[in-house]
Amino acid sequence: MTTTFNKCLMAGAIPLAILLSSSAFAQEGTSKGEVEVLNWWTSGGEAKALGALKDKLADDGIGWQNMPVAGGAGTNAMAVLRSRITSNNPPTAAQVLGYDAQDWADRDALSPLDDVAKAGNWDEVFPQPIQRFAKSDGHWIAAPFEIHSTNWVWANKSMMDELGIEQPDTWEAFIASMKKAQEAGHTGLAYGGQPWQDATVFENVVLATGGADFYRQAMIDLDPKALDSDTMVRSFDRFRELLQYKDDNSPGRDWNLATAMVINGDALYQIMGDWAKGEFLNAGLKPEQDFMCFRTPGTQDAVTFNSDLMIMFKNDDEQQQSMQNTMAGIIGSPEFQVTFSQLKGSVPARTDLSSDGLDACAQRGYEQAKAAAESDTLMGSMAHGYAAPAGVKNAVFDIVSSFVNGNMPSDVAAEQLAMAVQGARS
Ligand code: BGC
Repeated sequence: MTTTFNKCLMAGAIPLAILLSSSAFAQEGTSKGEVEVLNWWTSGGEAKALGALKDKLADDGIGWQNMPVAGGAGTNAMAVLRSRITSNNPPTAAQVLGYDAQDWADRDALSPLDDVAKAGNWDEVFPQPIQRFAKSDGHWIAAPFEIHSTNWVWANKSMMDELGIEQPDTWEAFIASMKKAQEAGHTGLAYGGQPWQDATVFENVVLATGGADFYRQAMIDLDPKALDSDTMVRSFDRFRELLQYKDDNSPGRDWNLATAMVINGDALYQIMGDWAKGEFLNAGLKPEQDFMCFRTPGTQDAVTFNSDLMIMFKNDDEQQQSMQNTMAGIIGSPEFQVTFSQLKGSVPARTDLSSDGLDACAQRGYEQAKAAAESDTLMGSMAHGYAAPAGVKNAVFDIVSSFVNGNMPSDVAAEQLAMAVQGARS
């Protein structure tokens, strides 16, 4: 297999970073060769979590060629992945989300992972809502890293204490607390104005407004009657209300910079998936001492989730195949599932592990995710590729972001949402 590294050598262009990392491989010993892994884990917390995989592979004598493509939720990474496949130069493996994994499996691009899955008893230990995406036609096609969940609020604890803000349980109390922060000269809601982040916050509001059944009807079943309904109009109304508490510099802001606003005491809250917790932890902060985590008010009874899946591309090289299997085995192993989540902010995707090593937020999150999987309220995130295929997801992004960036009335937004989803499906 011709690696990017070899191609750089042939072209005579060897960036310093590659030289440095290749000498690091030599020290670790790369008797078995190296894997090239495409991912979008570029923030501080994300890179640390990814480093745990690199280290584990190094213990097995497998070298690491990182292929990072910055951009939250993988929007940019997926474009790069498509172009790599089109030019017949797939990486060894790639981080993807639910429907994208299914899409690559449908294109017959993936190595089956059934042997590794069988050895690790994956059928028994991963919950059904994840198997639904990590298997295709009864075969395992992806290794699940974790369960992330999107209906969380991350809060600056000293600001809450200073302003006498109790953890809000209702939407009204949530809004009132942001108003209080705003009046004291802070930003109420740390916000990153990018389509996937708009959609992440929006799906929280839909769940808070309509409850689990409505979320499912609208976001997963894509029922036009739910998409263009009074409840959806109310969701857009509430979304507009929430947007009053973001600052003027939010357009284009990366999610981790929004998290930093809460960390630094510039903003009270961020509504974001629990990868945000990875940033707090990376900054040396402790949950419930330095920062607070709670379910978005009104969404306490359900969990919207996504799970990063590692897919392995078909390869004729037996050495590559064996390294792919080793990597999948590591990702699915009990020890790695805990170590990774401790750094990433997530909870293990396996449901058979002790939560002793997890922090306070993750202990709650793990129990909630497992309970939700049992009661059928572990529902796929629209913003993160687990509610609908990419075409529909992007259509939702378009409407939601137009709403954020303009003056679209709520009833028009609901109507447009239903039309856009319909259009993307036909
Ligand atoms: C991924 C996370 C990632 C986040 C921000 C999500 O779609 O599942 O692993 O940290 O995007 O990029």
